[in-house]
Amino acid sequence: MLSRRLLVTTLLALAVAPARRVFAATPAFFRNPGCSCCEAWTQRMADAGLPVTMEDRADLNAYSSQLGIPAGLEGCHVGEINGYVISGHVPPDDIKRLLAEKPKAHGLLVPGMPMGSPGMEMGDHKDPYDVLLLAVDGATTVFASHS
Ligand code: CU
Ligand code: CU
Repeated sequence: MLSRRLLVTTLLALAVAPARRVFAATPAFFRNPGCSCCEAWTQRMADAGLPVTMEDRADLNAYSSQLGIPAGLEGCHVGEINGYVISGHVPPDDIKRLLAEKPKAHGLLVPGMPMGSPGMEMGDHKDPYDVLLLAVDGATTVFASHS
């Protein structure tokens, strides 16, 4: 018979480490106040096993700049996951790839709000867009292209 202590330990381990979670603490994201596509993106993240919190922030562009996002490349929300800055409607699969490959980089960003990106679904309407890898020195290169 399973001892009570073993049972409790096992249940605790299951509760603390759900299989699909890739980070220990829930990352905090911030958005332009009232932005509904940010809510939709948060839902896509949760669906993909990457739950984050999302709060309003009136000084979002200043905060983005503080996190190293170059001026003009801001998205509608920004936060940090495992030491990487994530800005805008970055697809959860690209974030998973970033976390798996662990490049020496500052983070990922999608400038603006491309139609058809996760959280910006508009029926069949999809605009092609790039996910940019932001280097530590602030330079960007294409990490993934979506169309
Ligand atoms: Cu948005
Ligand atoms: Cu947003």
